[in-house]
Amino acid sequence: MSLRIGDTAPDFTIDTQFGPIRLHDWAGDSWVFFFSHPADFTPVCTTEMGRTAELATEFAKRNVKPLGLSTDSVAEHIEWIKDVNDTQSTSLEFPIVADVDNKVAEAYEMIHPGESETAAVRSVFIIDPNKKIRLTMTYPMSVGRNFDEILRVIDALQTSDANGVATPADWLPGGKVIIPPSVSTEDADAKFPQGYETIRPYLRYTQLNG
Ligand code: BEZ
Repeated sequence: MSLRIGDTAPDFTIDTQFGPIRLHDWAGDSWVFFFSHPADFTPVCTTEMGRTAELATEFAKRNVKPLGLSTDSVAEHIEWIKDVNDTQSTSLEFPIVADVDNKVAEAYEMIHPGESETAAVRSVFIIDPNKKIRLTMTYPMSVGRNFDEILRVIDALQTSDANGVATPADWLPGGKVIIPPSVSTEDADAKFPQGYETIRPYLRYTQLNG
């Protein structure tokens, strides 16, 4: 049975380059950007790790902890991180799970045998502070992820949670948001005193303050 949006993220205890972590305890009250990569010492993965390290303050601003994973060992992670820092001009400070027996990769269905029998594909799980899976993405081994999109979906989820709204196609922070059809006109009038535009009864836009 695959993991789905709304499911509780399976908990696990596993080694990282900083020692063992238990996911739910380590996450605490933060969101988690949990992402797998196929292998240490590979080019696309090196750029993804560098980009995640580079965005450390952007993740922190959003109360998000990055957590990487591959099926390589802690010793390999430690050596590879030196290369990542060297080649990507970063300082990688977030933990990378050493899933040497594929235990976590299997629980999160990160191994797609059509791509590889042993290495993880590029999975993303955005996990909220209640430990619920809020978003999943799966990329093939040959395609590096778009980290602007990862920050954008985190912004969209957090904006949606905070304001009871949805976000339209290609939304960016500061853009108009959508009042969900489940909100009655009476409730929309009360909740959005700044006003809103009704294109259709089911399509209402508003601009959030601030
Ligand atoms: C890479 O990170 O470059 C990579 C890893 C595994 C398969 C293909 C590409």
